[in-house]
Amino acid sequence: MMELVTRLFARGEPMLTDARASDAAAMAKLHAASFQRGWSDGEFERLLLERNTVAHRATIGNSLGGFILSRLVAGEAEILSVAVASARRKRGLARALLNLHLGRLAGLGAQTVFLEVDEDNTAARRLYGRAGFREVGRRPGYYPRGGTKASAALVLRRDLV
Ligand SMILES: CC(C)(COP(=O)(O)OP(=O)(O)OC[C@H]1O[C@@H](n2cnc3c(N)ncnc32)[C@H](O)[C@@H]1OP(=O)(O)O)[C@@H](O)C(=O)NCCC(=O)NCCS
Repeated sequence: MMELVTRLFARGEPMLTDARASDAAAMAKLHAASFQRGWSDGEFERLLLERNTVAHRATIGNSLGGFILSRLVAGEAEILSVAVASARRKRGLARALLNLHLGRLAGLGAQTVFLEVDEDNTAARRLYGRAGFREVGRRPGYYPRGGTKASAALVLRRDLV
């Protein structure tokens, strides 16, 4: 097993593990590069220290290639953020992170998972659609789009049991 881990690590393959408070700065940086509204290092640190937060990361050597972060309360989870570094996209990394994450959430007792996604976010909608999420709501005019009409947020849901 250790041999396999060492080999993957040497080849620069992403390693998927739990994220910790010490990842806050790297996650804030990746989040800021991926979304219009960034979250600060402190916001990530606070979230990662909360007992209800579940977070996974993909690392390549010492660098953060992606992460996914949820909050789980009374059997209901909400995915708060998912991001993959632009140079690492379209290689199945988000799918791998999401699969791992949903498995962990189920193991922790989550029955339902919700999230919000910009209706214009083709990559994220494809990711969640393939993972079995279905649209259950729509908030028109939710995401500002500099100058043009704001796009809607779609509320997606997946039942785990
Ligand atoms: C959304 C995001 C996390 C996807 O990460 P990724 O590692 O590139 O995704 P994957 O390679 O696992 O691909 C997942 C699916 O989306 C598809 N996809 C990925 N990027 C795409 C794109 N730009 N356009 C269309 N489809 C795309 C893939 O083909 C794959 O679908 P498939 O299983 O049918 O082949 C990444 O684009 C990102 O970080 N975006 C900015 C942050 C963001 O929007 N997060 C989601 C907020 S809800």
